[in-house]
Amino acid sequence: MKKVCFFDTKPYDKLYFDRLAKEYGFEMVYCESKLNEKSVVFAQGCDAVVAFVNDRVNAEVLQALDEMGIHIVAMRCAGYNNVNLKAAQGKVRIANVPAYSPYAVAEFTMGMFLSLNRKLNRAYNRIREYNFSLIGLLGTDFYGKTMGVVGTGKIGQVFIDICLGFGMRVLAFDPFPKEREGVEYVPFETLCANADMISLHCPLTQESYHMVDEAAIASMKDGVILVNTSRGALVDSSALIEGLKEGKIGAAGLDVYEEEGDYFYEDYSGAIMPDDELARLISMPNVLLTSHQAFLTREALENIAETTMDNLRQYFAGESLRNEVSFTAKTERAEKTEK
Ligand code: NAI
Repeated sequence: MKKVCFFDTKPYDKLYFDRLAKEYGFEMVYCESKLNEKSVVFAQGCDAVVAFVNDRVNAEVLQALDEMGIHIVAMRCAGYNNVNLKAAQGKVRIANVPAYSPYAVAEFTMGMFLSLNRKLNRAYNRIREYNFSLIGLLGTDFYGKTMGVVGTGKIGQVFIDICLGFGMRVLAFDPFPKEREGVEYVPFETLCANADMISLHCPLTQESYHMVDEAAIASMKDGVILVNTSRGALVDSSALIEGLKEGKIGAAGLDVYEEEGDYFYEDYSGAIMPDDELARLISMPNVLLTSHQAFLTREALENIAETTMDNLRQYFAGESLRNEVSFTAKTERAEKTEK
C-alpha cells in the first residue's frame, strides 16, 4: 500500500480524503504542519506528498524529497506559484487540480462585493449591539455599474456570468481574450480607469506580480471597490493601504494576502499580530479580509480529493499524468514568488 504524506491537514481535508483512501488503496499520513525545509522530514518513509497553497515546495524541500525517494508532489489546489518548478525538473513530478469548482470562488467573490458595497459586515456587528442606525451604511446599485475582471479563465468566466446577471457592464483584461457577448476586452490601464469595481482572477506570475501597485491604484476611479480572491502578491499591500487611507479605494475585499503563509489557516487569537500591514488592513472598516476560504465548499472539497487521488493513482500506475505541471519559460514564476 502506497503511503501518502499529507501536509497542512485540517479536519475538513481529512473528512474528504479519508472517504477515498480505501478506494484508491493509499495509507494517508496526516501532518498538521505546513510543508517547509524543517517539516519535510515527516515525509520520510512515504511514497508521495500532498501539499497546499501555503506549503513551501522550494528547491531545498524538493531536494530532500528526491533524497527520500519521493518523486511526486500532488498539489491539492489549482495555483502552484509556491512550487519551484525549475528545481523540481528531473527530480520530483508535480500535479495540480486545475479545476474543482470555479463556482465556489466566483460566488464568494460576488459575496465580498455585495458585503462591502452594502456594508453587511458592519451592519451585522452593529445589530449585535442593538445599534439600529443606518448612518454610514449607504451603498450603490450594482445594476448599470462597470465591473473590471482581470483574468477571464474558469473562475473569471463564471464571475462574469454573475455580473451580467446583475445587469452590470463588464470590462475585461486577459492576455488571451475569450470574446463573448456582453464583455469588452480592454488594456489593463483602460480597465483601471473605467471600472467602478475590480476583481482579480489571474494567476500569480512574473508579469502579474504587484500588478495592482501605486500607479495602477492612482489611475483607478475614486471610491473603486477592489476584490482579490486570486493570489495575495497580485496587489502591493503598502500601496493598497495608502490607497485606502487616501479614500481612493472605497473598499477592499481580500481573501488572499501577500504574506498570508505565516498566518492564514491558523488561530492567532490572543496573540499580538506581528505583521503591521495585515493588522492595519484588518483594522479598517471598509476592508473585508478572509483567510483564503473562497474555495471552501463541499463540492470543491469533493472534487479536490477526487482529482488529487486520481493524480496519485495515475503516477503510481505509470500512466501519463493528466494534470502534470512542469517548468517552461511561462511558468518561471516559481522562482520569483518562492519564499
Ligand atoms: P485559469 O487558469 O482558468 O484562468 C486564469 C486566466 O488568467 C487565464 O485566462 C489567463 O490567460 C489569465 N491571465 C494570466 N496572466 C494574466 C495577467 N497577467 N493578467 C490578466 N490575466 C492573466 O485559472 P482559474 O481556475 O480561473 O483561477 C484563477 C486564479 O484563482 C488562480 O490562479 C488562483 O490564484 C486563484 N484561486 C483562488 C482560490 C481561493 O480559494 N481564493 C481557489 C482557486 C483559485
